[in-house]
Amino acid sequence: MGTVLAVVSQKGGVGKTTTAINLASALAMRGRKTLLVDVDPQGAVRHGVGLLGMDQHAGLADVLAGTHELQDVVLPTPLPWLRVLLSGSVSDSGSHESYLAGLASSPKLGELFARARGRGYVVIVDTPPGLGAVTRRVLEYSQHVIVPLQSEPLALQTTTQILRAIREATLRNPELVLEGILLTMLEEGNAVSQRVAAYVREHLPAELLFDVAIPRTMASIDAFAAGQPLVLRSPDDLAAQSYTTLADLLDSKLA
Ligand SMILES: Nc1ncnc2c1ncn2[C@@H]1O[C@H](COP(=O)(O)OP(=O)(O)OP(=O)(O)O)[C@@H](O)[C@H]1O
Ligand SMILES: [Mg+2]
Repeated sequence: MGTVLAVVSQKGGVGKTTTAINLASALAMRGRKTLLVDVDPQGAVRHGVGLLGMDQHAGLADVLAGTHELQDVVLPTPLPWLRVLLSGSVSDSGSHESYLAGLASSPKLGELFARARGRGYVVIVDTPPGLGAVTRRVLEYSQHVIVPLQSEPLALQTTTQILRAIREATLRNPELVLEGILLTMLEEGNAVSQRVAAYVREHLPAELLFDVAIPRTMASIDAFAAGQPLVLRSPDDLAAQSYTTLADLLDSKLA
């Protein structure tokens, strides 16, 4: 039986998509059968895994609309054990509201996760920022959740809200486990970033924070621009190594 891990955050731009892509890739590189699902209508996963140039970019929105079958839109990637379900044609449109409302009220997302789990996939879900109806829905179907937290001033400000939302989600879905909060974009030589990290470590219960943090690196930006997972493109980069360590930490928990 597979399992579903959601990557969620209250704030935007904290590294959710980067984390989802690299965790999924690192798990696939360990030989885990992995499906990366983009429920965010911004569709950034398509850029990050190098599928931008492809003609075929139908995905979840198109399955939801009934124009495509699921098996036709689960795409292969350069990594043999990694498949991707993009958000689909909604990412080309300016308006995402009806897609989000449709996805939140449809049984299809739950059916899809159940099908993927039945086939033994570890499903990694990239979500839109905030705790909208779609993210709450994803949490209803997930067994694991991780929360990236960017190392910047006021980082902790929104953490209480997200932790409360996860607690509420566990009332509806007792299977859901918060695996940890992941510090992202930590800057080695930046005193502010280091102070934030120290503050976060001091104020959050130790068991909530992953031992590994993700540094801010140029190679991360380059990989995204090149449309390749960082762990594949620059495995020796410090952020790539941290994502690999994260995959090591999670692997045994993703039963
Ligand atoms: N470790 C890192 N080092 C350098 N840049 C990074 C790192 N992680 C993420 N970034 C960059 O920060 C920006 C935001 O990252 P990302 O898109 O992963 O965040 P997000 O939480 O998914 O954003 P959104 O809420 O808009 O979906 C991107 O330009 C990404 O390339
Ligand atoms: Mg994103």
